[in-house]
Amino acid sequence: MATRNETGTRTRTTSGTKKTNRSSNDRSAFSFGDKGTGAAPLLGALAAGAAIGIGANWVRKFVQQASESLAAGGEWDQILALEHKATLAKFDLILATEDDETLKRTALIKTLHYALNKHAHQEEQVVYPALRQANETVDADHLEHEHGYVKTYLYRLENMDKGSPEFLPTVREFRDLIEEHARMEEEQVYPRFKNSLSEEQNAKITSLMNKEGMKMS
Ligand SMILES: [Fe+2]
Ligand SMILES: [Fe+2]
Repeated sequence: MATRNETGTRTRTTSGTKKTNRSSNDRSAFSFGDKGTGAAPLLGALAAGAAIGIGANWVRKFVQQASESLAAGGEWDQILALEHKATLAKFDLILATEDDETLKRTALIKTLHYALNKHAHQEEQVVYPALRQANETVDADHLEHEHGYVKTYLYRLENMDKGSPEFLPTVREFRDLIEEHARMEEEQVYPRFKNSLSEEQNAKITSLMNKEGMKMS
């Protein structure tokens, strides 16, 4: 990716005095002062939903998102890191297929597409906007730009002959992109951003992200 050369710039430009831009007095569309508690609101909503006879599909979404949140420790960055790990495992399953297993490849690409869509939706609807609001625009724009290439790889693989000799090399390239993208999020951008926020602000991001994840479950 041509844009990977920007990593050094990003690191330099986003270090330093960010806390002054994100004081606990900040109020915004994220309403950070409004306490969110990760999975807890989802579990409460689940109980409420059951009580009023909410549709089974919504209950399933609540359960799925709450389960993922709890499994990851309930914090937004941990949930995303767990999803990165699960996504890379899906790539490895695809890379283990043979050229004559075209139906299996088609099915695995479908599950990969679903997982990447949900993950990207959570980041694009909550985490990246929160980064921009905290003046981490360079990082947010770079990461969202790479999400565009994620869609491009999915498009290529879905429209490619699954028995083609090009299939696995394309999957490997795609996996490399995802791995590097996830590493940047997990090792550079997210820890720095999380540490600059208060506990309440982080809880709010977790809560908002879980709501968006549920929409895609
Ligand atoms: Fe991302
Ligand atoms: Fe991510």
